[in-house]
Amino acid sequence: MSTYALNFGAGPAKIPQAVLLKAQKEFLNVHGTGMSVMELSHRSKPFGAILEKTKKDLTELMKIPSNYTILFMQGGATTEFASVFYNLIASKQQELKQAGKEGEEIVVDYLVTGAWSSKAAQEAERLIPTVIGNPVRVNRAVNVKQSNNGKFGVIPPASEWKLTDAQKHNVAYVYYCDNETVHGVEFQSIPQIDASVPLVTDVSSNFLSRPIDVSKFGIVYGGAQKNLGPAGVTIVVIRNDLLVDLNVGPIRPLMLDFKTAADNDSMYNTPPTFAIYMVGLTLEWLKEQGGLDGIQAVNNRKAEKLYKVIDDSKLYTSPVAKDCRSHMNVVFNLTTEELEKEFLKGAEERNMHQLKGHRSVGGVRASIYNALPEEDVDALIDYMLEFEKKH
Ligand SMILES: Cc1ncc(COP(=O)(O)O)c(C=O)c1O
Repeated sequence: MSTYALNFGAGPAKIPQAVLLKAQKEFLNVHGTGMSVMELSHRSKPFGAILEKTKKDLTELMKIPSNYTILFMQGGATTEFASVFYNLIASKQQELKQAGKEGEEIVVDYLVTGAWSSKAAQEAERLIPTVIGNPVRVNRAVNVKQSNNGKFGVIPPASEWKLTDAQKHNVAYVYYCDNETVHGVEFQSIPQIDASVPLVTDVSSNFLSRPIDVSKFGIVYGGAQKNLGPAGVTIVVIRNDLLVDLNVGPIRPLMLDFKTAADNDSMYNTPPTFAIYMVGLTLEWLKEQGGLDGIQAVNNRKAEKLYKVIDDSKLYTSPVAKDCRSHMNVVFNLTTEELEKEFLKGAEERNMHQLKGHRSVGGVRASIYNALPEEDVDALIDYMLEFEKKH
């Protein structure tokens, strides 16, 4: 048994060693309370201080403008597929009512570029019948699987997107997934859309991996378990004007309502205190790495050297177009499935774990999140070169 594994898992994923050691040190006695953070009331002063510091550090790192609120939600990023739909339909219904346009059709635009945006669009489609008062339509403005011979791996140029004209229709939001974890597809810039429409992005797998202009978004959200800590908390950053009263819009479970969360400082019910604490420690670590500019420089270096090995090789291929390759989830194939199996087996023997591609796509996936040290990428590269030489 080794005491340190090179962990290329896609999530739950590697947490910085320094963060785990700090948590270990404080495990039985957090901030001089004589208690573990897990034993503190969420309404206690010490936990309140942890929550405040976490919000302050996130605001600083992401440069979140003052007209946004940070929410700590539960139910994973998957729950946000429904929450985004319900809350932004509610906001649009409120706007239509005020404009005397009750009953008009509402459209939601999705850019479907991989498994996760596809699931989000499906959830919206599934929930349409629960909206009363307005017909709702989901428009897949981008539908890569359909336009690219059944395969993900590209982001078509914006000129080909079929965004709904917001001057002629009631568009509640435009949704996309910034980094598709399964397919290794990442947007390299923020989509340009009509400024009157809230832009929503799922950053679960590239959260805080590079600077982001929050002011361009209605909602930025992501689960913590890849780049920010353990599973159990999902962070939502929402523009305040999109928070609407629970009694406006679709009837929705309380726990999915953003305004309820905002009004109660994410403590309408018991929040996942340990997960929030771990996110806080990770943010402190990130600040020590030079913030988002600092970590982006390392992330770019890690990804570039890995893609170079793939591109220079006859054995490895990337199924993703060069202009949208993920800096976080580097997916690749070998020439045969047998070789892929042998590669993965050899990797395990070299203490490199969780490199298997997602069960829906196969192949190899190296998730190289913020916490994965550059030396671990170098070790993977050495193994890839050695394996290629042998074959
Ligand atoms: C980009 C993205 N969105 C959403 C999800 C779903 O997250 P959860 O399992 O927390 O619901 C994942 C999980 O891997 C993901 O990678």
